[in-house]
Amino acid sequence: MDWPQSTCYLNGEWLPLAEAKISVLDRGFIFGDGIYEVVPVYYRKPFRFDNHLARFERSAREIGLANPLDRAGWHALVERLIATCEAAEQFIYWQVTRGVARRDFSFPAGTPPTVFAMTTPFARPSQTQREQGLRAVSRADERWLRCDIKSVSLLGAVLARQFATEHGADEAVQFRDGWLTEGSSSNMWVVRDGTAIGAPRDRLILEGIRYGFVGELCDRIGVPFEVRRLRRDEVEACDELMLTSATREILPIVALDGRPVGDGRPGPVYARLRKAYDDAIEVLRQ
Ligand code: PDD
Repeated sequence: MDWPQSTCYLNGEWLPLAEAKISVLDRGFIFGDGIYEVVPVYYRKPFRFDNHLARFERSAREIGLANPLDRAGWHALVERLIATCEAAEQFIYWQVTRGVARRDFSFPAGTPPTVFAMTTPFARPSQTQREQGLRAVSRADERWLRCDIKSVSLLGAVLARQFATEHGADEAVQFRDGWLTEGSSSNMWVVRDGTAIGAPRDRLILEGIRYGFVGELCDRIGVPFEVRRLRRDEVEACDELMLTSATREILPIVALDGRPVGDGRPGPVYARLRKAYDDAIEVLRQ
């Protein structure tokens, strides 16, 4: 493959990404037994970093994995990582697995975790994506019942996104038993009668860092914000549909299953949230 020329961190060492190697017995490779984070960087500063660290700590706790670094340690690591890349906008990816051990489903005793971190230049959503929006397809949510854990076991997400790709769409909107959950790698937002509505933060979705952020932005700009379960027919009849994630920020979805969402164009609530989102990022310029 064509390797990005970047430096990464692996188990205490800094080395070119192309030279970083892990054992075939790593439990991340064998079982998907690990957790991760994706943090956007604007103006060379990680955005909402402490929220990402808090979510990572929670994921670690939920899977019984000792967090290898304290908050100061993660701050230092990420600062150094940002310094290895010239781009002002980056996204940081890190993952921690339960380490290298003889293949056995139970947790190995006394095995140090594998800690890997890299950064990549981040191309923010394009003007075309912002102005023309994305296309989505609906799909039954076939993932496990602990989607609140940011686990590297991502086969369910991979299959959902591939389904979208094969149907000429940018994202899959997933429904479990007829209720909206989330995208393959994004949270979903429905607008009905001017109110932004998100699915409950339970075990069936990952609580995105942009989930709380959208709530704050709605407060800031006076958009009513509601959290409740949404039936499929409510989603299909909504005025606007949007997604949020670290890499896609906030983007409108203008078509679902080939039918227009609302009038088939990015809506007014999206436009206001988009502006508030950009304004919040501009604050980092100082
Ligand atoms: N994914 N839900 C799922 C299933 C996700 O994978 C993501 C993010 C989100 C949004 O979370 P956040 O706002 O913290 O990015 C919701 C990241 C971007 C990824 O796996 O690459």
